[in-house]
Amino acid sequence: MKVFVTGISGGLGREFIPYGVAGCSGASKVDRFPQADLTAPQVVEELLSEARPDVVIHTVGWVDVDACERDPGRAASINFRTLLHLRRLAVPLRFRIVYISTNDVFPGDRGMYREADRPDPINVYSMTKAAAEAILRPCDLILRAPLLSWHCNGKVSFVRWLVESLEEEDSPTLFTDQFTSPVTATTLARLLMVDLLEEKGILHIGTGRRSRWEIGNALVRGLGLPTGRIRKGSLAGHRFLAPRPRDVSLDSDLLAKRHGRKIRLEEEIEILRERRPRRETEPATLRAGGDRQ
Ligand SMILES: NC(=O)c1ccc[n+]([C@@H]2O[C@H](COP(=O)([O-])OP(=O)(O)OC[C@H]3O[C@@H](n4cnc5c(N)ncnc54)[C@H](OP(=O)(O)O)[C@@H]3O)[C@@H](O)[C@H]2O)c1
Repeated sequence: MKVFVTGISGGLGREFIPYGVAGCSGASKVDRFPQADLTAPQVVEELLSEARPDVVIHTVGWVDVDACERDPGRAASINFRTLLHLRRLAVPLRFRIVYISTNDVFPGDRGMYREADRPDPINVYSMTKAAAEAILRPCDLILRAPLLSWHCNGKVSFVRWLVESLEEEDSPTLFTDQFTSPVTATTLARLLMVDLLEEKGILHIGTGRRSRWEIGNALVRGLGLPTGRIRKGSLAGHRFLAPRPRDVSLDSDLLAKRHGRKIRLEEEIEILRERRPRRETEPATLRAGGDRQ
């Protein structure tokens, strides 16, 4: 099966490179992969007519939630229109789409959302992601997963921010009243390439329900860093430009039932420990700006 991955330069996209996939990046140059602005329909058409994949894994996204709120036009262009251009070609060029969505499509009022639950996004980022989900076919696959990664092109990743804050002797604050179920980009890519390429519909991938504070402490312990300096904070007492959902943990029972896979946070943290980058090997652009919580 020929697989084409968009966003190959991203925190998730780069995890597919070891599987020998075809793909493209955006503004960043990565090895043998072409660079392409996928907001332009003719660019998408040329690229896919040439590549002729069976499956396109669409990881492209603008993940800076506050920046999306400030510039909804750009958010729609990157998060929705790039998928629209792919979707128009999917029938004539005969490929299926695997769309990387987000748990943030849910409003966050109760958590442990299942695949059958209805999205009801509360900020521009999640609205553009939910709009993209809505144009896919039943034969396509929507994966919703909260991501843990050292790398993220669109913001400073949570993992990197937390670790660097502690290394610089800051006292980062983590919310005790915001919940999620993160998995590593490494695990998500491996699951997709090994188990899920033929899967259809919607699938949730997560590690149960934990607060940001619990996740941060588990992460820091797993990496052998001191936990004592992490301060407890409250989402309820914090104002972001874009509203943040309170509890977007995911129920992953369907993954367990269909594929016998249960993902544990401790194992995900071990993956991050093994893959910790050396600071000097990381381009400076990956460390600028960002969304900390
Ligand atoms: N990161 C998270 O916490 C998180 C959580 C849940 C879901 N997701 C979803 O997972 C997906 C991957 O996220 P990520 O963390 O890997 O994001 P990322 O590191 O910011 O990567 C985004 C990718 O999109 C590419 N891109 C952006 N605009 C483009 C354009 N106009 N044309 C072509 N490529 C473009 C970027 O390419 P260049 O950098 O080369 O320009 C980069 O490869 C996204 O769809 C996101 O919504 C992310």
